[in-house]
Amino acid sequence: MSLTTYNNVLIPFFMYGTAWKKEATTQLVQQAVAAGFTAIDTANQLIHYQEALVGEALLALAQQGVTRDRLFLQTKFTPTNGQDHRTPYNASANLTTQVTQSFDSSLAHLHTDYLDSYVLHGPYQRQGLGAEDWEVWTAIEGLYRSGKAKMIGISNVTAEQLTQLCARAAVRPMVVQNRCYAALGWDSEVREICRTHGIIYQGFSLLTANRGVFADPAIHTIAQRLGAGLAQVVFRFAIQVGILPLTGTTNTQHMKEDLQAEQLTLTAEDMKVIETIGM
Ligand SMILES: NC(=O)c1ccc[n+]([C@@H]2O[C@H](COP(=O)([O-])OP(=O)(O)OC[C@H]3O[C@@H](n4cnc5c(N)ncnc54)[C@H](OP(=O)(O)O)[C@@H]3O)[C@@H](O)[C@H]2O)c1
Repeated sequence: MSLTTYNNVLIPFFMYGTAWKKEATTQLVQQAVAAGFTAIDTANQLIHYQEALVGEALLALAQQGVTRDRLFLQTKFTPTNGQDHRTPYNASANLTTQVTQSFDSSLAHLHTDYLDSYVLHGPYQRQGLGAEDWEVWTAIEGLYRSGKAKMIGISNVTAEQLTQLCARAAVRPMVVQNRCYAALGWDSEVREICRTHGIIYQGFSLLTANRGVFADPAIHTIAQRLGAGLAQVVFRFAIQVGILPLTGTTNTQHMKEDLQAEQLTLTAEDMKVIETIGM
């Protein structure tokens, strides 16, 4: 199953996330693709991701016949405030140059000449958008116009920031990637803005950010009725409510189970219960 962005590009309904996998990244990406994932999320940010090892996995997959066109690759530009000393661009260059250098370095890491999705890892400040954000977004728009990024997006964004971006950007984002807290109605405010502007909302840490949800008897009852795992119920809820989920599992069995969430069906009553579970 795929979703379609407002600029008519297909995006798989579930994404495999590669944060914190360290040297296991190469092996895990191959396992995730073998389990059925076709979309991979990474970032050019060595603190949390090993983008070059994702690239190693892609080389191995290509040898097994899984060619580039069968995969969806998403990576991010991480500003200097999210990097350590291993910044993958010249941190003293202007921001447009930083974006260009980081993008080119991602292409080299991933052994490709285009990205399916290129995401600004986060605005420079917690509230509102500043001059840096506009300069970086304009540079990212340039990559989209060049055809080297098939869609562009922003991550870790507030409702206020997303509203500003949609109002003033020449090209509004096709995707938003946010941590999805059940306590905030699963990020309902940001999701509503995405709905209004035809933006695909990607939710991450659906499991790790919501440990309280797993203690709630209501979700156990739903899982038991469906003969499903708790993680599967959360992922199915996400899919059914219109969220494109990411999973960060390191377990082959969990990879398969997470994808199988697509086959479950939650009733309107189940959806209502889960939608308000942590609030
Ligand atoms: N944009 C950003 O700033 C940002 C920030 C954080 C993350 N992300 C992206 O989102 C991805 C996912 O984040 P995350 O790792 O926090 O997500 P997550 O899937 O909520 O958390 C992963 C944890 O869930 C467990 N898990 C997954 N499926 C399971 C299942 N079926 N049964 C039991 N446990 C299960 C995993 O354990 P096992 O390994 O044992 O399965 C692991 O401990 C990251 O890899 C990254 O690509 C983006």
